[in-house]
Amino acid sequence: MIVLASDHAGYDLKEKIKKYLTNKKLEYVDLGTESNKSVDYPIYANKMADYMANNDCKGILICGTGIGMSIAINRHKHIRGALCHNKKTAILSRQHNNANVLILAGRNKKTVLTYKKIIDAFLTTNFEGGRHQKRVDMLSE
Ligand code: RB5
Repeated sequence: MIVLASDHAGYDLKEKIKKYLTNKKLEYVDLGTESNKSVDYPIYANKMADYMANNDCKGILICGTGIGMSIAINRHKHIRGALCHNKKTAILSRQHNNANVLILAGRNKKTVLTYKKIIDAFLTTNFEGGRHQKRVDMLSE
């Protein structure tokens, strides 16, 4: 299961991602927003954090730059959110950081062109554990 959320600046990319996940037969839950009408990104980051506290899933969270969502979602101890602009960083965010939320920049043209590769990498790459486990554990101390 994948949980999605965005603000207005991430709405168009979120809609594209929903179609992509549907084509891949991957289930998702959409926590909003529902249009391009201006909203406040912390509300949607907090909704995702609340959802993930009770459900075993990965998240994809989008705002214009990805920065506001990164700041907001990473205030929650059970979240490891990674702002990724390419496939390589998406892979490393899983292998080294065990990231559970992929954050995307909906107003970044390169991201919009390559979101499928970034998402595929994020969803299919496993955490390496080993030396990275101790570091990840330290994040929730
Ligand atoms: C909205 O205009 C924009 O500020 C927001 O999407 C995000 O990029 C904030 O970090």
